[in-house]
This record gives sequence, structure tokens and C-alpha cells, in this order.
Amino acid sequence: MNITKDIFYIGVDDKKITKFEGQFDVENGMSYNSYLIIDEKIAILDSVDANFKDEWISNVKKALNGRNPDYLVISHMEPDHSANLANLVKIYPDITVVMNQSMQKMYLQFFKELPKNVLLVKELDELNLGKHTLKFIFAPMVHWPEVMFSYDMCDKVLFSADAFGKFGSLDYDDPEGWACEARRYYFGIVGKFGAQVQNVLKKLSGYDIKIIAPLHGPVLSDDLSYYLNLYDIWSSYKSETEGVFICYASVYGNTKKACEILASKLEKEGIKVAIASLIDEDFYESVEDAFRYDRLVLASPTYNGGIFPVMENFIDALNARGYKNKKIAFIENGSWAPMARKAMQAKFNLDNVEILDEGVKILSSVSDANLAEIDVLAKALK
Ligand code: FEO
Repeated sequence: MNITKDIFYIGVDDKKITKFEGQFDVENGMSYNSYLIIDEKIAILDSVDANFKDEWISNVKKALNGRNPDYLVISHMEPDHSANLANLVKIYPDITVVMNQSMQKMYLQFFKELPKNVLLVKELDELNLGKHTLKFIFAPMVHWPEVMFSYDMCDKVLFSADAFGKFGSLDYDDPEGWACEARRYYFGIVGKFGAQVQNVLKKLSGYDIKIIAPLHGPVLSDDLSYYLNLYDIWSSYKSETEGVFICYASVYGNTKKACEILASKLEKEGIKVAIASLIDEDFYESVEDAFRYDRLVLASPTYNGGIFPVMENFIDALNARGYKNKKIAFIENGSWAPMARKAMQAKFNLDNVEILDEGVKILSSVSDANLAEIDVLAKALK
């Protein structure tokens, strides 16, 4: 598949994977992207996951059509991309592997010995291939420290490592478009590193980019401002959508009932609402929605004198990713000593979020008093 006249896609689709990085459900698979630039010198960018050695090497050879590659450029040392680097070097021992200092250390850690030819590059170094020249833009902690983007000055292609990637194999035509699974990927994997993403976005603002070629998901080429703008919103912890995300854990349906009544009241007021069960639905869909909306309602039964476990994990997952700039309210349930609200609230840093006083305290099942509390809460969330 051609990206431009001289740039070819040589990656693979993983249809067997069910959990990416051991924790993100990927029912529509995953792609591990790799690219090849044919010029006076030939450069390969990145390898693919260990399970796809034969398919990738076959893609490389087919694209090379009998020629030898000159360079293997590394963007990221996480094994979903680096696993086959040493295998390629075994086949083409004269190839020069282009990496930075941090990659060199990781290469040794993963593969125990360095390739015969290593070209160590620094930020903004250039690698001339003939017509094409790659300029290296470091992207530390997006989301590993060694990450390095490459910008092809000829075709104006940005090879962006994991940034702008999404879940889903390339041959899966996602009916929800790019943003939904790109957002889940961003907040699941990169979310903690908003400041570092902002840094690299600032660096990129000086470049004329026509195509973004990430290590996962489709090559982006239409209106790049759409993708760049979403990355700017996500990484600056702004809310993408005005509305309320109601996220609950409910064992016997009583806590859920209060959430559904609240959702329906808010919707009647014309407020956009998303609602999800942490027990029954994808955990990281809820993480992305908590960042997406500007208001959050968390609802949990009391458990062991504190928070129901999946809700506790959820709040930890938000905090681990630097959750901030939101308005939060709580619904708690307890049949003898409701404690969930106090415990949930204690997990948030009040410098980062605004906690509403209004809330709902359910004693076993939704009462008339609770309906009145829900009315008040709905007004406070407007
Ligand atoms: Fe796709 Fe961070 O590896």
C-alpha cells in the first residue's frame, strides 16, 4: 500500500489479540504499522509485534523487490514495534540502525547486543536519503522516554510513533470514525503525559505536515487540524464535550436506578448525558468519557466500609492520568452505614476538581427523599 509515491505501508493487522498491553479490550484487533521509504537510500521505519515476524519480513522483502535496505529507523522501543528489529538486522547485517541514546540503552536491554552499524541521532538531526530527508523530533514520554518522531521534509509526512494511534485493525472500517477509539487509546495509554504531548505539539506547530503516519491505526491525511485539535484538547485536560457523564457500580440495581432517574431528568433539561456501568461495560470507555465530558457523577455502593472495588480502581485510574478541571458529584448507597461518598471524595485533590455539595444518599433502595435529592442534584449539574 502506497502512502505517497515513495513511502509504503509494510505493517500488519493483529486479529487474534483480545487485550492490548494486557489490559485494553480490542475486539476489533490492532495494527502494528511499519513503513518503508524508497529513494537513493532505502529506509525502513520500525518493526512489528513478535507474533508477526514472518508476515512483516515478507512485507519488507516484497516492498524491497530484491534491493537491500540502508537504514532501519526506530521510533519507539516498546515491543509491539521493536520486537523484530534484531530479526531484521540478522537478515540484513549491513543495515544501519538509526536510534537515539535512550533507544541504544533499551536496545541492549532487549536484545543484549547492538547492531554492527548504529547511527546515533540527536534532536533535529537530519538523515538524507536522496530526495527525501528525515528530520528527527524527540517526543520524550509520549509515552516512553526514548520516543522519536521523524518528519519527511520531501512529502511532509510525520511519522508520529504511538501519537495519533488508535485501537482496531486497519481493515476494520470503524463506523464511529477515528476519534472514539483514538480517544480511548489516548486516555488509556498516553493520558498521564499531557504536558509532554503539549510540548511536542508546540514543536510540531512549526512544521508543514500533510500526512500523519502513526504506529497504530490509519494514516491520517485529510483535515489534519481535526486530529491535532483533539490532541490539543485531550493533552491540555480541557473537556471535549459539554455534558454529564454518569458512571456507576451497581450490584442489585438500586444505585443504577438512581443514576437512570438523574440521567433522564438531565436529558429533559436538554443536557447531553452519557451513562455507563463499570461492572458491565468497558472500563477504559468510561475513563475516556470521564475526560471527555466536563461534569462527572460517580455512584457506588459502600463496600468494606469504603468504595466498591471497581469504582475505587476507576478513580485511581483517573488520578493516575492527572484528572482535573471537572465538576464532580456523588451518589452513594449503603444499607447500614453509607461511607462510599466520603471515601470517593477523599480520593480527589480539591485543587484539581470542584466537588458539588449536592448528592444522593441511598439507604438500600431509592426513596422519595432520594427523588428530591436527585432533583436538587440535577439542578446543580445544569
Ligand atoms: Fe504502540 Fe507504546 O507502543
